[in-house]
Amino acid sequence: MKLIIINGPNLNLLGNRENGIYGSKSFDDFFVEMQFKYRDIELQFYQSNIEGNLIDKIQEAASEFKGIILNAAAYTHTSVGIGDAVRAIDIPVVEVHISNTFAREEFRHTSHIAPYTKGVITGFGLQSYELAIQSFLNVK
Ligand code: DQA
Repeated sequence: MKLIIINGPNLNLLGNRENGIYGSKSFDDFFVEMQFKYRDIELQFYQSNIEGNLIDKIQEAASEFKGIILNAAAYTHTSVGIGDAVRAIDIPVVEVHISNTFAREEFRHTSHIAPYTKGVITGFGLQSYELAIQSFLNVK
């Protein structure tokens, strides 16, 4: 099974960014651990700080992958375009957040993406991504 993790703006800084909120591990290190632990899944990873690139990737992924694990980061709260892209495709998308967005500022309580996803996992640190991977394990 092929899955892709798509990360939005500033998530390239993980490990160096607001460590109290986002932890001290880089996403690259975490991703290698996930690839090793879930060897039966073909896991890919894409990150961009640019909204249009994320939309392009979501559209492309629909013909190549069984599912998308999407952390659109700040665009979650602002991007009708990313929400529309998720709405337009037929493969399941799981929205993830490292922090518990509902425990933070009010503007982070809104997601333009969540209504079109299979579900949302928020607040478990990097483990949010692992829980999302696990949600696909019984999917054929
Ligand atoms: C985030 C939460 C967003 O509100 C924030 O803008 C991010 C990261 C998270 O993973 O906790 O950049 O998506």
